[in-house]
Amino acid sequence: MSVPPRQVPAEVLQLGSAGAYLSLRLRAPELAAFQPGQFAAVAVGGRHTGMVLRRCFSLYAGDPGDGTVEVVFAVHGKGTAWLAELRPGDQVDVVGPLGRPFPLPARPGAAVLVGGGYGSAPLFSLADVLHAAGGEAHLVVGAASADKLFFGEEAWQRCASVTVTTDDGSAGVRGLVTDPLPELIARTGATVLYACGPMAMLAACTAVAREQGITAYTAVEEAMACGVGVCMTCVLPVVGDDGVTRMTRSCTAGPVFAGETVRWADVGTVPTGTWGAGGH
Ligand SMILES: Cc1cc2nc3c(=O)[nH]c(=O)nc-3n(C[C@H](O)[C@H](O)[C@H](O)COP(=O)(O)OP(=O)(O)OC[C@H]3O[C@@H](n4cnc5c(N)ncnc54)[C@H](O)[C@@H]3O)c2cc1C
Ligand code: FES
Repeated sequence: MSVPPRQVPAEVLQLGSAGAYLSLRLRAPELAAFQPGQFAAVAVGGRHTGMVLRRCFSLYAGDPGDGTVEVVFAVHGKGTAWLAELRPGDQVDVVGPLGRPFPLPARPGAAVLVGGGYGSAPLFSLADVLHAAGGEAHLVVGAASADKLFFGEEAWQRCASVTVTTDDGSAGVRGLVTDPLPELIARTGATVLYACGPMAMLAACTAVAREQGITAYTAVEEAMACGVGVCMTCVLPVVGDDGVTRMTRSCTAGPVFAGETVRWADVGTVPTGTWGAGGH
């Protein structure tokens, strides 16, 4: 059952490095029972900052027993640079868990989980949930180079198989994260693919899943200004059950979408015929 989102002051317990990324562990019992694919919106800059927008991060790990959650982030701009300076004992204002999680398959079986860069963060808790439901998770992680991969040694304990790819061949198999998918899907008999990473990767994963005749669920990281459904910053064109395209908020209707419903080639535009944009 999903936990309702809350705004809470969270104590920083640990800030550590995770390859090219930083991992931030917080005491936030209200978020600890999140579902895989959900995210948190973190206020940055302190009390008197001009940075009014929260920054969103996938929830990587949670422990309802000790009331902690962890996110993994790359320093990108001013907000994440501020987060990178936090120290144990500091407090951050966090809203979560937000968004809709990855749907679980109706029957346990094999699933392929695909993560690009820090996009693999939400896939480890998903692997645990699939495993607990009697299924098995086959993880494929990819990045431009070895330092941009995000996965730990424990991936081999949590997943039935782990495949690593890098664009430059500095770790694992040289090539794109989508390259091993057709063979892996055929070998494992997977009926569902879960993916989180850059938009182009999600579009490619959806195409592979379609070719292989399986379902793809994709967690998008569209820019989000509010994270709670108010500002419409995060909309992308999604086709509904009625065949109509609507500009859909990825913070509330997503971040997880059935890959086939997203008009990947039109993301960033309002395609002709979209509901409310003419043609209706
Ligand atoms: C659901 C989700 C999950 C994510 N998970 C992770 C993760 O696990 N790890 C990670 O490293 N990153 C993750 N990201 C990306 C992360 O949110 C950004 O890297 C972060 O916001 C950068 O903040 P910054 O201040 O460092 O960068 P800056 O570029 O200085 O600022 C980014 C800010 O600008 C806002 N913004 C961007 N575009 C627009 C726009 N068009 N209109 C209005 N506001 C805009 C954003 O909302 C954000 O607040 C995720 C994003 C989303 C949406
Ligand atoms: S981020 Fe504001 S509506 Fe989605």
